[in-house]
Amino acid sequence: MRVKKLIASALSFVLCIGNMTAAYAAAETMQTTYVHTKKFIETAAESSDNSASVVTIKLGDVNGDSFIDAADASAVLSAYAKLSIGAFSDFTLMQTVASDVNKDSIIDAVDASNILSYYAYASTLKTSLLPIESFMKNKSEAGATTTTTTIVTTITTTTTATATMLASATKTSATAATTSISNTVSPATTTASATTTKAPAIEVTTTTVPKPTSTTSIISTTSTIPITSTTSTTSTTSTTSKTSAIPMTSTTSTKFTTSTATTSTSTTILSTTTTLDPKKVTEIKLSKTEITLNVGGGDISMVTMLPATAADKSEKWTSSDTSIATVNFEGWITGISEGVCTVTVQSVSNPKVKSEIQVTVIDPTRVREIKLSKNEMTLPVGSTDISMVTMLPDNAANKNEVWISSDENVATVTEEGLVRGISPGNCIVTVISKSNPDIKAEIKVKVTDKNQPISISLSDYELDILTGTLGISYVTTLPKTAVPISEIWISSDPSIASVDKFGNIYGVSAGTCSITVSSADDPDISATIKVNVHNRPIITSIATTTTTSFTTTTTTTTITTTATTTSTTTTSSTTSKPAITTHLIQSHNGATYVDGILIVNKTYSIARDYPADELTANTEEHFRLLQEDAAKLGLKIVCSSGFRSYDYQEELYNNYVSTDGVLAADTYSARAGHSEHQTGLAIDVNSISDDFIGTAECEWLEKNAHKYGFIIRYPKGKEAFTGFRYEPWHIRFLGVETATKVYESGLCLEEYLGIDSYYH
Ligand code: DAL
Ligand code: ZN
Repeated sequence: MRVKKLIASALSFVLCIGNMTAAYAAAETMQTTYVHTKKFIETAAESSDNSASVVTIKLGDVNGDSFIDAADASAVLSAYAKLSIGAFSDFTLMQTVASDVNKDSIIDAVDASNILSYYAYASTLKTSLLPIESFMKNKSEAGATTTTTTIVTTITTTTTATATMLASATKTSATAATTSISNTVSPATTTASATTTKAPAIEVTTTTVPKPTSTTSIISTTSTIPITSTTSTTSTTSTTSKTSAIPMTSTTSTKFTTSTATTSTSTTILSTTTTLDPKKVTEIKLSKTEITLNVGGGDISMVTMLPATAADKSEKWTSSDTSIATVNFEGWITGISEGVCTVTVQSVSNPKVKSEIQVTVIDPTRVREIKLSKNEMTLPVGSTDISMVTMLPDNAANKNEVWISSDENVATVTEEGLVRGISPGNCIVTVISKSNPDIKAEIKVKVTDKNQPISISLSDYELDILTGTLGISYVTTLPKTAVPISEIWISSDPSIASVDKFGNIYGVSAGTCSITVSSADDPDISATIKVNVHNRPIITSIATTTTTSFTTTTTTTTITTTATTTSTTTTSSTTSKPAITTHLIQSHNGATYVDGILIVNKTYSIARDYPADELTANTEEHFRLLQEDAAKLGLKIVCSSGFRSYDYQEELYNNYVSTDGVLAADTYSARAGHSEHQTGLAIDVNSISDDFIGTAECEWLEKNAHKYGFIIRYPKGKEAFTGFRYEPWHIRFLGVETATKVYESGLCLEEYLGIDSYYH
């Protein structure tokens, strides 16, 4: 801005350049004489820059030595460099006017270039020189448009306090002279002698390029451009030129370095100049060169066509793969399908100029992971197993899968993932996402002989029993075709719960321990159950009365118990205020009735002479109805064991004891006087063994017995209360109303009546 102002004021004068030196005859013809006006004088006086009334300024002769040469060009460039960074040029008013040879009110590289061009012209043509104004006018008319100038020069500078600068010269004059300075000249060593008849310090050739082109020319030249310091012979203004030669450039960047030294410094300046048509697109800048999109999503990268002066900035967009991403004429990119492609923007006016965007399209609904509930399977020949599949993400659009077995001779797999063992061996079953086949998961499959046990499980994970009572958890061996394992039972703490070789668990003292069963042949085949042993319920009050409801003497006892106690001490549980249930216990004819229900278990026995010798009429009648209805469904239910006498029960029990021992026998056989079979109210149906478990009859009986007045007396999981292991075949007649209430309560009879069952 400073430059413009200064020149503007200077050029508002009509200048007078009067005399000229005679030293360089050729230069005389270049002189232009102006006569100053009153205005100039006034302004000059105001500026106190000089007080002369006549000033002679020769355009181009910046240092006032009467020559238009490289020194002047250097001086202009030096000024330009300073002005470019906002510093003062050090030029006097006269020098400022003399510098602006193209009279565009700017001191810049173009002026320096013009001075050099003229210098070259004057150096080769010794006579009939045109004045610089005419020379420039002709040159302009000749239509020269591109300047390629390269100067490598060693200069001597006395400039002080300058800085390293990067000047981006963006002179865009289309009429810039095209000047090439070759290194074919003999290195001139002319130095500060203003009066020497000058041979040209360097040979300068001028080339006119008819059409703008981009040219890069690097010429290594070590010519020394003379730097002169002199006083204008014709001017009263003394102008000492302290100059640094600065490379000329009309476009692109010019990098030059000036030492900050305050002493004389040698600086080498390399200028590689490419002059381009300022109206032509030379570069496309993008705000983004990488874009990631979802399928269906869109984005855009902002485009800047350079230079800003480019005439035709129209752009053309293309996608390398429109099945992945499309791009419209404005550069809007739309994700089509997952993948990577390149979107290119190209200058229409200069198709060589282009830029690229790498586009990554992601389908957020594509399967990214498959999770399996099992990654390993061991299954016997002929059996099947399945692993549940989870396709992620949850919102995956296509969760279809493909299953493959690595060896169908070992295991096959269905479309649904059902794996079937074919022959002993190992293979891999793989599940693959149909929509994204890169995503898969594997199952290691081991197929074993069908007789070989693979695993065992227990019927319960946790068992609650009372001290002195029995608990049983049933072992299941897989496959079902496997030979039974030889079981080894171990308690982690026999002082809390002990276990015998049959798996009968006995509560010893309150506490928790674990009991493990494993295969004697393969310790890896094992299962564990947690056992919680609780103290017995504490009787808090007993009331005894006598009733007359029986013909013989009857004792009635009311027992109020805690419903279920988890107390770990035997002292008291009164502080916990558990739910209280009151039951009426009555004795009659050597039998016990609780709430009017005849009860026979390990706690309550009946006398040897209890008056029964067969099933009661009600029991028999209701069982017949049950049989008939079952038969209608194709189920066959028969009575395998009904009434038993005291003696028969004793015989049975003793036989079991001699076979399995007391502990085991007590889990499945009642001692004489403690069997319900002695009452005529109990029946064992069908197979009195675990073979009955799982049969259709077993399942039907469990769901329907109550409708005929019976309950499954020793349900699974109630061993701690009943005192006996699960016997789905043993039904007890209670009458339809009571049996239904008990069935619907989900309780066993001991729980229902609030009584216990253990041998005291
Ligand atoms: N099997 C049952 C418990 C009984 O012997 O009566
Ligand atoms: Zn029975």
